[in-house]
Amino acid sequence: MDFQLHQRVISWLKTAGDSLIASLNTNLMVEEKTNASDLVTRMDKEVEAYLTQQINTHYPDHRVLGEEGKGHSIEDTRGVIWIIDPIDGTLNFVKQGRFFGIMIGIYADGQPLAGYIYDVMQTDLYYGIVGQGAYLNDRPLQPLKINSLAESLMVTNAHILVGNQFNSQALLGASLGSRSYGCAAYEMISVIRGESALYLASRLMPWDFAAGVAILESLGFKYSQPDGKALNLLTANPGIFCNAAVYEEVLQIINLK
Ligand code: IPD
Ligand code: CA
Ligand code: CA
Repeated sequence: MDFQLHQRVISWLKTAGDSLIASLNTNLMVEEKTNASDLVTRMDKEVEAYLTQQINTHYPDHRVLGEEGKGHSIEDTRGVIWIIDPIDGTLNFVKQGRFFGIMIGIYADGQPLAGYIYDVMQTDLYYGIVGQGAYLNDRPLQPLKINSLAESLMVTNAHILVGNQFNSQALLGASLGSRSYGCAAYEMISVIRGESALYLASRLMPWDFAAGVAILESLGFKYSQPDGKALNLLTANPGIFCNAAVYEEVLQIINLK
C-alpha cells in the first residue's frame, strides 16, 4: 500500500467528517429513498461527490463505486475500485446526530487491499491494510480475545431476530446477548474491537461491508454469506462477519436443519 495514498485518504476523511459535523444544525434536506427509514441527505451526496472527485483527480485509472451514484457504473471487479459509503447510518445521523460513519474500501481485482471506517463524532479512525495489520488512530488494534460464542456478545438487528432469520434465535441463545447499532460501520467496529464475536446482517450492499471486510481480513477474521459462500462485491448480500474463533460454530448453528 502506497503511503501517500494512505495519507490522502486520512486527510479526505477528516475533511469530510468536519463537513458532517458542521452540517448538523443546518437544513440537511432529507429525502426518502425506498421507505421512511431509508434516507438520503444533502450531506450524503456532498461527501460522496467530494471523495469521488479527489479519487478521480489523484487516481484517474481507478474506479469508484458509491452508494449515491456519484462514481462509476460498475459491472465487474477488474482493476482498483474504491467502494464508498459517504454516511453509513444516515437515519442515526438525521435522528441522533451521532452513531454514523464514513466508510471506504479499496479493492484490486475483487480482493481487499485496505479499509477505512471513520467514526466521525468520536474522531476515531479504524483502518486495516491487508498484510500490514489493522489500526485505530495509528495504534495497532488489539481486539479483545474471544474464545467462543458462549462467552461473547453478537450484533444483529431486531427484524432478523424477530423473524428468526438465519436461525438467529439459536445464535442468540448460544451467546451472551445481542446488540444493535443501526449502523453497519458501528456493527463492524464492534467485531473489529472484539466486543462482539459476530455481526449478522440480512442485506448489505457492497458499500456497507467493503471497508469492514478489508479490516477484518487485515486482522485474520472471517466473513462470508451465512451459507458459507463468498460475499459478492457487485450485489446485495446477507453476511456473517466473525472473530475467527467462532466462525465455524456460527456457520454450524445457522445451517442446522
Ligand atoms: C444502512 C445501515 C444499517 C443497515 C442497512 C444499511 P445507510 O446504511 O448501515 O445499519 O442495516 O442495511 O443500508 O443507508 O445508513 O448507509
Ligand atoms: Ca450511506
Ligand atoms: Ca450503509
